[in-house]
Amino acid sequence: MKQDWKAMWIAAPGTCMNDWRAPVKPAPYFRKTFVCDAGGKAEIHICGLGYYELYLNGEKVGDHVLDPVVTQYDRRARYVSYDVTKALRKGVNVIGVILGNGWYNSHTPEVWHFDKAIWRDYPKLRLDLEVDDQIVLGSDTSWKSSSGPIVFDGLRNGETYDARLELKNWLSPDYDDQAWLPAAQVMGPGGLLEPQTMPPCKVMQTLPFVKSWTLENGDRVFDIGQNIAGWARISVSGESGTELVIRYGERLKDRAVDQEHIGCFIKGGDCQTDRYILKGEGVEIWEPRFTYHGFQYVSIQGKADIHQVEGRVIHTAFPQIGRFECSNPILTKLQANAVWSYRGNFVGIPTDCPQREKNGWMGDASLAAETGLFNFAASSSYNQWMETISDAQRPNGQLPGIVPSSGWGYNWGSGPAWDSAFILIPWYVYLYTGDTTAIHAQYDAMKRYIDFCASMATDNSVSFGLGDWCHVDSLRMADAAVTSTAYYYVDTLALAKFAGIVGRPDDQARYEALAASIKQAFNKKFYQGNGIYAKGEMTALGCALYQGLVEDSQKAQVVARLVEKVEANAAKVDFGILGAKYIPRALADNGHAALAYRLISQTDFPGWGYWIKQGATTLWEAWAGDSSLNHIMFGDISAWMYQYLAGIAPDPEIPGFKHILLAPHPVPGLDWVKAQYDSPQGRIISSWTVKDNQFCWEIEIPPKSTATVLKPDGQRTEIGPGAHHFECACNP
Ligand code: BGC
Repeated sequence: MKQDWKAMWIAAPGTCMNDWRAPVKPAPYFRKTFVCDAGGKAEIHICGLGYYELYLNGEKVGDHVLDPVVTQYDRRARYVSYDVTKALRKGVNVIGVILGNGWYNSHTPEVWHFDKAIWRDYPKLRLDLEVDDQIVLGSDTSWKSSSGPIVFDGLRNGETYDARLELKNWLSPDYDDQAWLPAAQVMGPGGLLEPQTMPPCKVMQTLPFVKSWTLENGDRVFDIGQNIAGWARISVSGESGTELVIRYGERLKDRAVDQEHIGCFIKGGDCQTDRYILKGEGVEIWEPRFTYHGFQYVSIQGKADIHQVEGRVIHTAFPQIGRFECSNPILTKLQANAVWSYRGNFVGIPTDCPQREKNGWMGDASLAAETGLFNFAASSSYNQWMETISDAQRPNGQLPGIVPSSGWGYNWGSGPAWDSAFILIPWYVYLYTGDTTAIHAQYDAMKRYIDFCASMATDNSVSFGLGDWCHVDSLRMADAAVTSTAYYYVDTLALAKFAGIVGRPDDQARYEALAASIKQAFNKKFYQGNGIYAKGEMTALGCALYQGLVEDSQKAQVVARLVEKVEANAAKVDFGILGAKYIPRALADNGHAALAYRLISQTDFPGWGYWIKQGATTLWEAWAGDSSLNHIMFGDISAWMYQYLAGIAPDPEIPGFKHILLAPHPVPGLDWVKAQYDSPQGRIISSWTVKDNQFCWEIEIPPKSTATVLKPDGQRTEIGPGAHHFECACNP
């Protein structure tokens, strides 16, 4: 980590915010001309808040967008380092920086109050240039600043670009910057300045529109065929001064872009709307920089020739490491939709939805984390988000429901099911990669959290927090006390394991004992006998089973009750986001993978298959599809397919896939499954077919791994690296 900053924090002159209602200003441009005699390895370190775009000698440095990732800025901000050896010249050089508001100066009035965040201020930057480890230049008041064509940018509103105000040649050494003013030295954001080691956000794909039409009022609508997070790149020509209004949405109403369901929490300004004012010089190609949107449809209002509209897909640039497909197109499509929703909901941090909120909802992230780790190399991103969570933690250990938080979401929107992200995500990262960074770094903070839960407990059970959110019918939702107490239990148990990992045996014993007491309390309070927990809701039964709270002697009865419930409901969903993780897993773990498969693949309302039948390209927020169409919180289903159909699972005793547990579940109606997974040890393949009751299975194990194989006929074998083939009779 860099310690020796030479640079000042600088901002556009006159932009020290002393009032949250201070006017929104155009995006500031900065430039500095300097002579460099030194030659050698050159590196720029930059923290530009909220977002920056960096140029050296006319070229954009790097391909990051929406950088750096959001943090609790008053506690910690991230700087980014670039190797600029090739771009730096001997002689005269020009550095340019443009700053956007991002989350740092989130000025939009909305219900989560980021406009009143304690850290909020006008954009600012700090930049050091080092050549051969010597600082040769730092941002200071000799830098010059001006406004430019980005006349407005709001993360949640959109961006307005007036191309007539472009600063032609501002990056060239002979640009006349006499009209620019000296940058002002300002106070930094106030916390730690640490390196961003996770992958940045990038434009990951460009999708041309697949359909377009013109409305009666002349607006043009473009369908890019896929619900994404990102923005549109437009190619247009027309008269100077013409304003194009570019609206983004994921639904249509009377063939026009409908933003009604996504703008409801925004209390000022546009919702997901960019504006481009033409300069009138031939073909103009433009895309925004400092905002992003969730959308499938783009409408353009304004008189101009539109040559092209493309969807620029933006998300954290972690490599995709998992692939799953099978003979049932519903499931293969569900897998594709889960991947799209995961992408669209990982723009620097895990989010709930890219269009309405962009919030780092903890519950959504926790539920989707295994899907994330099966499909993407997401562990370093999670580790850095854990730091942000610890920065948002109150001294008493309490956590907010969203991270970052402006201060909103501690007493509503949180609770053990949501807060568990802080303990279970490090646990999953450990399971899937063997990485203990977050466990070591956050151990004390996690302890504070469990101690906070203990302070909220009565007789070892807790009832605070959200429960089985987005149930088909909230009147049938299991009591939040059931799910909250169960999370209190698994979190405490995980903490006891972490105590072992970080070498705190006293803590380990203490938290194991606490977990045992919580389990006892859970059963005393919620077990009604005859296999029933609480009111016998699917989620209550699934929760008790999946979270390991059922006493062995009662397990068969609880499983029987759950199976009856699901069958009596014609294998249709009767739960919310928590049940959506527990029930398919509890069924498959207890010999009923076939029923879990029916539940997932059936296409009647309500269920995952119903969404596919409606033409979904992502996962939705609600079973009925009446709210956001791009939420990841029902997305554990992808991890379920890897784990139970392909049968690939990490071994908690030897994590990171050094030892693999392989146990596929062939089910009636499925002829084949193909999965590959690039674990930290190398590629794992599990693919099988079933024909005439004969199960044929191809396996590939990475060079240094071993695996325990459980065949569908019940036979268990230990195998080593390389390719393996198994066959057995199987009657799914
Ligand atoms: C978000 C959810 C979140 C929930 C919790 C919603 O507005 O979109 O995904 O978990 O609130 O309150």
